Amino acid sequence: MLQVVPAILEKSFNEMVEKVARVKPYTNFLQIDIMDNTFVPNETFRDAARIATLDATLEIHLMIDKPALYFQQWALPNVQRLIVHFETIGNMEHDIALMRTSGKEIGLAINPETLTYEIKDYLDMVDMVVVMGVDPGFSGQQFQKDVLEKVKEMKKWKPELLVEVDGGVNMYNRDMIEAAGATHIGAASALWKAEDLGTAWKALQGVE
Ligand code: DX5
Repeated sequence: MLQVVPAILEKSFNEMVEKVARVKPYTNFLQIDIMDNTFVPNETFRDAARIATLDATLEIHLMIDKPALYFQQWALPNVQRLIVHFETIGNMEHDIALMRTSGKEIGLAINPETLTYEIKDYLDMVDMVVVMGVDPGFSGQQFQKDVLEKVKEMKKWKPELLVEVDGGVNMYNRDMIEAAGATHIGAASALWKAEDLGTAWKALQGVE
C-alpha cells in the first residue's frame, strides 16, 4: 500500500499545528516544506526550534541552496528524514556523507527536468528518492505525469528503492503513481482542500 505523507507548506506555525492535528486520526508522519527564497521563489515558516515542538514524526523537505551548510539545524529529535535536492548539492559523495552524520535518513529529491542517469550512481547512498511531480515551490500545481517514467526506470534498476512522488498528487492519479512503483506519495492540496479529509485520505491510500 502507498504510504500517504501529508505535506505542510505554510508561512505560519499555527497553521502547521492545526494541520498536524487534522491528520492525527490517520497518521503521525508528515512532511514539512522548507523554502527560503533561494532554490525556489517562495518562503515558508522555518523556525526549527518551534518545528521541533510539533507532535509528529517529520520528514523535512529542504528546498534551499547549499543544504550541506544548513542540514544540522534540521536534525531535530522529531525528524526522521531529511530530503535534499540533487540540484542544490555541490559534491554528492562529500555532501551526502556529511549529511549522514546527522543520523537521519536522507531522501534525494529530483525536479521534473532532472534525469535518472544523473543520480543513478548515488542510489545506494540514500534511503529514498523523491520524484517531484511539479516544479517545487508551490502547492496546487498540475502533476507532470511524464515523471512516472523515471520512477519505473529506477525501480527496474533497484526494485527495493523507496520512491516518494511529491507535487500534484491527487486521488485521480494516485493509481498510476502506485502502478509505476512508487512507495510513498506526498500530498498537500488533495488533503487540505478536500471537502472531507477522511474521505480524501482513504482515496489517496487507495482504500475503498
Ligand atoms: C512542492 C512541494 C510539495 C507541495 C505539494 O513545492 O514540495 O510538497 O507541498 O503540494 P500539492 O500536493 O498541493 O501539489
